[in-house]
Amino acid sequence: MYNFDFKNPVKICFGKGQITKLSKELPANKKILLTYGGGSIFKNGVYDQVKAATQGMDIVEFGGIEPNPHYETLMKAVEVVKNEKIDYLLAVGGGSVLDGTKFIAAAALYEGDDPWDICAKRSEIIVTEALPIGAVITLPATGSEMNGNSVVTRVSTQEKLAFGSTAVMPQFSILDPEVIFSLPDRQVANGVVDAFVHVMEQYLTFPADAPLQDRFAEGILHTLIEEGPKVLADRQNYEAAANFMWSATMALNGLIGMGVPQDWGTHMIGHELTAYHGIDHARTLAIVLPGMMHIRRKEKQDKILQYGERIWNISEGSVDERIDQTIQKTIAFFESVGIKTTLPDYEVPNSTIEKITNRFEERGMKIGEKVDIGPKEIQAILEDRL
Ligand code: NZQ
Ligand code: ZN
Repeated sequence: MYNFDFKNPVKICFGKGQITKLSKELPANKKILLTYGGGSIFKNGVYDQVKAATQGMDIVEFGGIEPNPHYETLMKAVEVVKNEKIDYLLAVGGGSVLDGTKFIAAAALYEGDDPWDICAKRSEIIVTEALPIGAVITLPATGSEMNGNSVVTRVSTQEKLAFGSTAVMPQFSILDPEVIFSLPDRQVANGVVDAFVHVMEQYLTFPADAPLQDRFAEGILHTLIEEGPKVLADRQNYEAAANFMWSATMALNGLIGMGVPQDWGTHMIGHELTAYHGIDHARTLAIVLPGMMHIRRKEKQDKILQYGERIWNISEGSVDERIDQTIQKTIAFFESVGIKTTLPDYEVPNSTIEKITNRFEERGMKIGEKVDIGPKEIQAILEDRL
């Protein structure tokens, strides 16, 4: 196992009725910006619960943060923060609202010339200061409620880039599984697959003699495989909703990735598919991961075999046969929750492959747990999904 430092200061308030805790968790003397998305919170009663719990507090509202939050929109919120002298942010929504709010929190205090550099120059610019954030998460998927990551899309340049900082970790996050009751099938499926692939990015690499992390990861995968379909079948099943919600948070709050190699190549390639074609984040992962497993079958062999055996009971046949079966099982799981897994399924033209590989070429960056996946390999991974 590698050395690591681990600190996760996010307070989680989990369970039915926990939105009332806002009255205690929010500071009384601050001016708060309540951020939200396209309006789901008005239809499912979350907004009313938030208003009831924050009576008497000084709150300004900013709505309209899109899925894959737009830099252009977030900069309008930064203006509001400055004009209204906001000193606390409350995100109420899915991962996009929370990621967007993290960017607002950092951009509002950023002293450089161009706030986009927070994402574009993430390796040079370390965000150390941000406005404090609280969150009510309404969609289990990203883990954003318990991490310091944010992914932002710049529409004008078709770029989707991330930044990460402990300064934008929420001070608290409220997770009430009842918010799931109003989620459409599409978003439940997205959440299951996104959380599943978050685990895979931290697990499906090479052995690092970390059996506890492996079993944490496998526990989350098993739980998602068991509970995800229950949530899809019955949106009012509170216990299934609770287990799904906690699994999604645990998949990306840092714990399972401590002391082990991490990949994130599937995400990096997937973000390009969203940037060019607007495909839902989770769906891009369902396209790329099988290609990643196929093209990296040698480098990832030991962990693919372990995953196949422990998650899908695959133990018979040659190494290549077992790997093929394991990839097929993974594809079948994604399809079983209603998520297609090839590029033609999303009408992505072949020319996009070249555009994506060119981008990685220009950035001069390699990805993956061994930082050895370059444009050629990315091309092969995507061509595998035609
Ligand atoms: O905008 P509203 O009206 O609220 O509707 C949203 C949106 O249309 C709707 N929704 C959310 N909660 C709902 C609901 N509808 C009914 N009932 C509810 N309770 O769902 C739609 C999708 O929401 P969005 O926030 O975009 O989804 P998700 O949570 O999957 O977030 C995706 C974004 O997170 C980024 C992705 O790249 C993408 O931009 N990620 C963030 C990560 C992180 N911070 O660690 C890691 C991930 O890998 C991911 O990259
Ligand atoms: Zn993801």
